Amino acid sequence: MLVLSIETSCDETAAAVVEDGYKLLSNVVASSVDLHAAYGGVVPEIAARSHLEVITPVIEEALRIAKTNWDQIDAIAVTQGPGLIGSLLIGVLTARTLAITKNKPLYAVNHVQAHVFATFLTETSLSGYKLPQKKPEFPLLALIVSGGHTQLVLFKNPSKYKLLGQTTDDAVGEAYDKVAKMLGLPYPGGPSVDKAAQKGDPKAIKLPDAKIDNPYDFSFSGLKTAVLRAAQKLSGHDYTFPSSGLPEALTQAQKADIAASFQYTAVQTLVDKLKAAYEQYQPASVVIAGGVAANQELRKQASLHLTTPVIYPDIKLCTDNAAMIAVLGYFKCKNGQKLADPYSLEADPGLKM
Ligand code: KG4
Ligand code: ZN
Repeated sequence: MLVLSIETSCDETAAAVVEDGYKLLSNVVASSVDLHAAYGGVVPEIAARSHLEVITPVIEEALRIAKTNWDQIDAIAVTQGPGLIGSLLIGVLTARTLAITKNKPLYAVNHVQAHVFATFLTETSLSGYKLPQKKPEFPLLALIVSGGHTQLVLFKNPSKYKLLGQTTDDAVGEAYDKVAKMLGLPYPGGPSVDKAAQKGDPKAIKLPDAKIDNPYDFSFSGLKTAVLRAAQKLSGHDYTFPSSGLPEALTQAQKADIAASFQYTAVQTLVDKLKAAYEQYQPASVVIAGGVAANQELRKQASLHLTTPVIYPDIKLCTDNAAMIAVLGYFKCKNGQKLADPYSLEADPGLKM
């Protein structure tokens, strides 16, 4: 079964073709990240305009690389939400139009849930991919860490799951992006902080752990403020010093120490909660997915603290892509889940898991 998928929840315009939910035939991602870098974050209007410009060539490229055509495609899967409304609209309307004109069944997919399903891609003839050797098994414990979400989820099967905990404020990727901005590191912040941290001392600055009632919930906004206060102090100023002045006032060594200390605390929190959930629920597989799953320190700490190997998507499939949307679309089809109506499917920016 061949699924063609479309993903436009944020600033990446993506299309992919996946066979039988595990074989990656193509994965095309056109990012407008360079257009947003000057603003230090994604500008929704620019993202939507850029989706509109490239969506058709991106889909055609996905079909071409997969060496297939519309006659052979069995279904279309599209990201319904969550995400930016203007961005989602372009993907959803394109998928609806294609489902009607090409007469294909349409599946609406939750983007956050789909991140986990990137780990089911275990085969490809495309070069440059390092895929998991074997598919995860259920029950599956997933830590989903991205720019918009931080969740611990226990999947009984692809469609039945329990949300164990989630962030009560900022997502961990968002905290990475904000710390990067404070330190004047280039956007996107996650990889920049990760790189700067390599040269710093993770124990240089003691940062607080958030105390919350549900042991599986997360909070990163206090950590972000603690990083700001520590940076102001290190630069020789008090808490009234504007964060916009910090990149100039801090030395490279101080920035590296701040990045390393922040990363150490954030990663420790993620791994501690994942470990506790693993011990309580004893799942068959553990997955870490989403943009922050590309983080090398997170991978290192998880392997040190968990007694089971963790399954990760290829680095290129950690950040936003359409291949993960196709996998979840395939499972929905296989499990006989409800089709989306191509005449009425609406993008849902606040779609919950
Ligand atoms: O999953 P994703 O591409 O988009 C969302 O659905 O949000 O995740 C993007 C997030 C950004 O916050 C980015 O800074 C972060 O993932 N990220 C990283 C790394 N690579 C990307 N965070 C930490 N370390 C990385 N290496
Ligand atoms: Zn994402």
